[in-house]
Amino acid sequence: MGKSICVSGSKGGIGKTTTSINLALSLFNKKENVVLLDANFTSPNVGIYLGHPVTPNSIHEVLSNKIKLDEAMYLHKSGLKIIPGNISLNSLQNVNPSRLKNHVSKLKKEYDWVIIDSAAGLGRESLSALEACDEVLVVLNPELPSVTDALKTIRIAQELNIGVAGVVLTRKRKKYDMTIKEIESMLESPVVAVIPEDDLIRKAQNKRDAVINLFPRSKVSKGYNRLSSYLLSESPGRNEKEFTWKDMVRTILGLK
Ligand SMILES: Nc1ncnc2c1ncn2[C@@H]1O[C@H](COP(=O)(O)OP(=O)(O)OP(=O)(O)O)[C@@H](O)[C@H]1O
Ligand SMILES: [Mg+2]
Repeated sequence: MGKSICVSGSKGGIGKTTTSINLALSLFNKKENVVLLDANFTSPNVGIYLGHPVTPNSIHEVLSNKIKLDEAMYLHKSGLKIIPGNISLNSLQNVNPSRLKNHVSKLKKEYDWVIIDSAAGLGRESLSALEACDEVLVVLNPELPSVTDALKTIRIAQELNIGVAGVVLTRKRKKYDMTIKEIESMLESPVVAVIPEDDLIRKAQNKRDAVINLFPRSKVSKGYNRLSSYLLSESPGRNEKEFTWKDMVRTILGLK
């Protein structure tokens, strides 16, 4: 049975989709069996970022009971399987987000990892993504509003009894940002990956691909590779070696 990971964080535009895509591809490049699912029903961006902007068969039609799940599966040029959303306004009408959990359970029988890109906010659609996952990765930027929003996501995950796999700090700049220590003490959760602010993200988007594939040696790619290593090391049976706190600190510092 695979694992479903929801990439969440209630603030908008912080890098949830970018993280979902690069994490899914990093796992895929490590020979894991992965599917990336867009659960941002109002603003689905996975297909747009990966070159499948118009998708008549999508998660929207699945959740409207019009098609079967495997009919909404697309293949990115890298070979990664994606289930995008439909960008048309009409497609939203009959979507029932509460059906998502059932479909994710089916995917877990076939895939090692189901990476779920969540919507912003704490409305019905982001809650449905949380309810469908085994663990949540909380994405945030090093700014107070983003950290307070992340705290809300963590509290809701705790209320739903969903494990918090860790915090992903994205768009980190060199100056004027909150420190990792400050963020960890506010959230009482470990920062498990740090992704710098980098224009390569937009460069890759313009090419309908991900940084991890186009610029594998960049700091962004190294950060996402460390994130996938962290998830792999944590999963019993996938890696013989236990992933200790010391390992985690070394991973974040880039010493592993
Ligand atoms: N590390 C980064 N460096 C520079 N730009 C980034 C980085 N991560 C994301 N971005 C940019 O920030 C914007 C928002 O990213 P993304 O779509 O991943 O956020 P999101 O949290 O999924 O947004 P939404 O809440 O709308 O779904 C995009 O234009 C993306 O290119
Ligand atoms: Mg998004």
